[in-house]
Amino acid sequence: MQALARALRQVWMRRLDDPRLIDAVLRHPAFVDRAPLERALSARFFAPFCHQEVTRGARFEARARWSRAIFAAVGLERVRDAAIQAFDAHAPTGETESLLDSVRACVARATTELTFGDLSLEPLVQRAVRDIDRSIKMIGRADLTVRRALRDALEPVLDCTDAWPEATSLGAARAEARCLPLSERVDHVGAVLLATGVIQVSDTVTHALIALAQHPAAAAASDDALVAEVVRAFPVNASITRAAGVDVTIEGARFQRGEAVTIVPRRRARALGFDPSRAAAGSWSFGAGARACPARRVAATLAATLLGRYRALGCKSSRATGTSAASRSP
Ligand code: HEM
Repeated sequence: MQALARALRQVWMRRLDDPRLIDAVLRHPAFVDRAPLERALSARFFAPFCHQEVTRGARFEARARWSRAIFAAVGLERVRDAAIQAFDAHAPTGETESLLDSVRACVARATTELTFGDLSLEPLVQRAVRDIDRSIKMIGRADLTVRRALRDALEPVLDCTDAWPEATSLGAARAEARCLPLSERVDHVGAVLLATGVIQVSDTVTHALIALAQHPAAAAASDDALVAEVVRAFPVNASITRAAGVDVTIEGARFQRGEAVTIVPRRRARALGFDPSRAAAGSWSFGAGARACPARRVAATLAATLLGRYRALGCKSSRATGTSAASRSP
């Protein structure tokens, strides 16, 4: 009976709603690991790549150190340039059936350029990331052939740390990468830098364009303000999960070792509505504490630059057909 109760605590997540408790839990060293349910789903969604959130302990920390080193070094001017070049290459003209597919193509190209400094892997990145995105959103079955092809293509590139150009995400954090075996580098680049990163930025830009169509008064807001408000109001992470590493009491709340919790940023966002003219109120859209998103600066810059290009292009959604029309501004 006790074993059953323990198993249920791990699978059936306890939802936290009190803002003070949420903040304290996210920053607490007892709450480092993601919940078992998220780890299991993640293992499936990103296969054959192993996402950072599936790993634990020293393995998890080594990958986190690499991400932090990369994003501390990436220059925002490079991010803007990569976004503009990607938009020029992939901008839609006329009607497009899926705005998300169009935006994702731009983000995937910019991310490929920023990561490797060249575009030789772009066709594979485009196909594999689209496939992962569609299966995460449950609108398509996973095509492991295309994902394995990306993994095979990443191996020789990620093996040669000396060959990584200085002015790339990889080159900026060579020393931290060398602490990881090749298989971990491949998993991290495939699942985190490429797949998760591209999907989250694409969702943000797409949400922003839809929000603009739904809230015409928001057109006066800057691209940066829009991205900040969209990330707050429509968090791309539906939930942030954790499992307690030890028995612990935080802010008067007691948690047993192994107990899983979930934080749903959208619950707090819903009450405030959508208004980019206010300075974005505190939210957990990028997490909090030591585990907060290390790519926040880069992600927001990439999203705002692309959003600006799409807005200049003139973008409106067609409710009748479910398609989006994009046309060059006069
Ligand atoms: C608008 C876009 C993004 C949003 C809203 C976002 C949000 C988040 C959130 C909420 C977390 C914390 C998860 C947790 O505490 O369990 C996180 C962590 C992380 N994010 Fe992002 N993210 C975005 C873009 C990106 C991009 C572009 C990358 C990389 C290319 C990235 C890489 C990471 C990594 C590596 C972590 C794990 C940090 C750690 O545990 O040490 N994120 N992100």
